[in-house]
Amino acid sequence: MGRNHRSDRGASPDTDAPALSQSYPIPGMLSDAEAESAWIDVIRKMDETYANLVSQQVELERKNAELEEAQAFIASVLGAMTDVLIACDREGRIEQTNAAAERALGYPGRELAGRNLRDFIDPASRAAYTALCAAALRREEATDAELSLRSPTGPFPVAVNSTVRYDQRGRAIGAVLVGRPVGELRRAYRDLAAAHEGLKQTQQQLVHSEKMASLGRLVAGVAHELNNPISFVYGNAHALCRYVDRLTAYLDRVEAGDGPAALAARRAELRIDRARADLPATLDGMLEGTERVRDIVAELRRFSSEQKHAAERVDLTALLRSAVNWVAKAQMADIAVTFDLPERLEVTGHPGHLHQVAMNLVQNAIDAMQEVPARRLELAGGLHGDRVAVTIRDTGPGIAADVLARVFDPFFTTKPVGKGTGLGLSISYQLVREHGGTLAAGNHPGGGALFTLTLPAAGHREDRS
Ligand SMILES: Nc1ncnc2c1ncn2[C@@H]1O[C@H](COP(=O)(O)OP(=O)(O)O)[C@@H](O)[C@H]1O
Ligand SMILES: [Mg+2]
Repeated sequence: MGRNHRSDRGASPDTDAPALSQSYPIPGMLSDAEAESAWIDVIRKMDETYANLVSQQVELERKNAELEEAQAFIASVLGAMTDVLIACDREGRIEQTNAAAERALGYPGRELAGRNLRDFIDPASRAAYTALCAAALRREEATDAELSLRSPTGPFPVAVNSTVRYDQRGRAIGAVLVGRPVGELRRAYRDLAAAHEGLKQTQQQLVHSEKMASLGRLVAGVAHELNNPISFVYGNAHALCRYVDRLTAYLDRVEAGDGPAALAARRAELRIDRARADLPATLDGMLEGTERVRDIVAELRRFSSEQKHAAERVDLTALLRSAVNWVAKAQMADIAVTFDLPERLEVTGHPGHLHQVAMNLVQNAIDAMQEVPARRLELAGGLHGDRVAVTIRDTGPGIAADVLARVFDPFFTTKPVGKGTGLGLSISYQLVREHGGTLAAGNHPGGGALFTLTLPAAGHREDRS
């Protein structure tokens, strides 16, 4: 560089110094003037170099400050992370950890550095960790796994995301694991699942108790209905027995060969003529009673069957009478019932389901009238165009506005535990909808609740599959 400098100077037309080749007659010897100028050169050069050094130093310090700032920033970000971050080399030796990782593993960073991460994996998670490492070796990015770290307080579950780390030349030099602590989340999830399970069981129990309650109502109602004809048959059978005894006694005398006078006396004594005259009516009564029993049993079969038949014609008038007889009469002897219904009111549908709807409505009316003195149930209905509409009104307290908005909600009840399940109306609503009908709740202007049921009239039902 010095030589260039000198030859530059020699070639320079600006300088007044003579060319060197002419000034040095003996190589190595300098004249005083030349020596001075060389020194000045050297000093100037040193000044320049020194100035360069100083500016480089300043630049270096600035860069250093920037670097420190960046490092502090990264450290604060790493420190603020709640996720566990661990950087390892290819062998799984820990190179760097963040504060969350140090807290989870229970060691300061300097004690973790250089140790193998495998030693900090819970034995139960070793297989998952091995799979994660294998995936990292295959350079698969961001593999998700769930691992448990060994923390001083026991297994520390984390959802791990592993990423391959590359050097500047693109070689894989390790992996970065970021783990999200899932303990809290999992505990919350477990609690939620347990609560859900509990709720499901309660609901199942309620559904079950609603089924049992309606079965109980059915049985109680049918028992009540059967009571009458059976006691009728029973009474007549007793009378028949007495007649048979008297007739047998009389026939015994005939077979024994008693004379006409003796037989006439026996006949009067045993009131044989009366027995003969009563016999047809007694037998008719028994027949009627058994027919009634047969009809009730048939009704029970029809209205309690769960099987989904093809839709059949159902007479709503008879169905409502049966529901009132079974539910109301059995539970509330002093209830007054008025039917304002045509002789027949035909719809198409599932008799059992429609009967259940009617029973639920009647049962609710009965429940509402427990505390009132004048208990009356009014059923009215008729055919309106292609639809059948039926109203059921009671003389209970009616339904408050806030309750009215929720009566069809499943499990909504205002009745005490063990009395109501809150399923009657929601099930009824569903069943009516399945029949292409509507069920509406409201209050009668004269007091009491008023439920309105509409259904497509028989022959007008839209096809619903
Ligand atoms: N006829 C009625 N009079 C007053 N309230 C009624 C009547 N029918 C239904 N409700 C109200 O609607 C609620 C829900 O009825 P429901 O679904 O049959 O369930 P549950 O009878 O088991 O309570 C009842 O708890 C009651 O508050
Ligand atoms: Mg009910």
